[in-house]
Amino acid sequence: NEAKLWGGRFGGGPAAPLAELSKSTRFDWRLAPYDIAGSKAHATVLNRAGLLTDGELAAMVDGLDVLAADVDSGAFSPAGGDEDVHTALERGLIERVGPDLGGKLRAGRSRNDQVAAQFRMYLRDSARVVAGQVLDLVDALAEHADLHLGVAMPGRTHLQHAQPVLLSHHLLAHAWALLRDVDRLRDWDRRTDESPYGSGALAGSSLDLDPEYVASMLGFSTSVANSIDGTAARDFVAEAGFVFAMTGVDLSRLAEEVILWATKEFSFVELDDAWATGSSIMPQKKNPDVAELARGKSGRLVGNLTGLLTTLKALPLAYNRDLQEDKEPVFDSADTLTVLLPAFTGMVSTLRFDTDRMAELAPQGFSLATDLAEWLVRQGVPFRSAHEIAGSCVRTCEERGIELWDLTDDDLAAVSPELTPAVREVLSVAGALASRSAKGGTAPDRVREQLTEVRTEIEVG
Ligand code: ARG
Repeated sequence: NEAKLWGGRFGGGPAAPLAELSKSTRFDWRLAPYDIAGSKAHATVLNRAGLLTDGELAAMVDGLDVLAADVDSGAFSPAGGDEDVHTALERGLIERVGPDLGGKLRAGRSRNDQVAAQFRMYLRDSARVVAGQVLDLVDALAEHADLHLGVAMPGRTHLQHAQPVLLSHHLLAHAWALLRDVDRLRDWDRRTDESPYGSGALAGSSLDLDPEYVASMLGFSTSVANSIDGTAARDFVAEAGFVFAMTGVDLSRLAEEVILWATKEFSFVELDDAWATGSSIMPQKKNPDVAELARGKSGRLVGNLTGLLTTLKALPLAYNRDLQEDKEPVFDSADTLTVLLPAFTGMVSTLRFDTDRMAELAPQGFSLATDLAEWLVRQGVPFRSAHEIAGSCVRTCEERGIELWDLTDDDLAAVSPELTPAVREVLSVAGALASRSAKGGTAPDRVREQLTEVRTEIEVG
């Protein structure tokens, strides 16, 4: 079994079921371009250390380029006997440059530092793609916020009408959460920007190979400070898994609202035909499957993170084969988001809001009761009494099946002498919105400023 990287001390090859268990090419083949980039960098430092002649380096790089093209075209792919992507590509290189030269590349490196470096490279690229897609969604939310500036809707707590807010304010609340996910990815990238190459199996290399040089060739700012940590650490995987899960959870919260808003009872939004699905039996149906898939897939993203952390828990240093289980969950999380996000953004950007209905419902359910109480506070009434008085008004209205603004001057005076007709100035949605004018509030001017800030964040990326 010459494809193996570790045959020397063994009397025979592994039992077939072990080889089957061991094999990871099914899921780690996607690291192939990163493995080849790593090999080129490694060949360069072998040359710089005097372990490869200039001619050998040139031949090696040519061979790796041919291999890369063959991987790309599908002409080269993992064979049954290849344990992992690294093994397969070493075989591929040897097939192209011969065993004498091909066999020199492995000096001073181990699959333990190779995989740790390549996984970082792969995830850094994936995180950039995901961040860009999240920003597209934020942009779609900002577009709606811009288009509908001034539209009121019922703001809710406990899913009950609480206070009127601007639709734009509500949409931008989702935007801020998503912008923090992008910021988390950026922050994560800064920590992940260290190359484990040169850590060897765990102790570093004795061959005078320059880890910093390899790092710079592979797009890292520096190399790791500790070779044991370099090969054993997977917090960068778990952290990426967390940000992916958090992003999924943030999507699920917006998804849930879209699902509710699209119901007959809410009728706040209508989904565009291109972003909704039908029923095989009920001809009238228009289902919010994109939102439901987002809600469902968030569970999968959380599961991936949980599985990953459970694999890492109590693992002794340094490399253990358990670590091979680190890839599938986070590959799956990245894949899930990269498929989900464009569909989700398509659904959001084509939503049609029934702004008349939202505005009409905004003040219902006594959502101006707080404004009434705060008006009393401005007249010098202690909030404790103001709360009581406003509560009495609500009770009166509820008994009669009317809204707060339906109370007559006499009704108001009967509840409390403090309730003069002037209170009517705050019993309007426009008044309630405009009064929430401190930073972060839903007053139209503040929301317009917020929108500008969100757009700046999108540009910063
Ligand atoms: N394929 C392995 C992984 O993904 C790397 C190989 C390390 N194997 C080893 N026996 N040290 O973690």
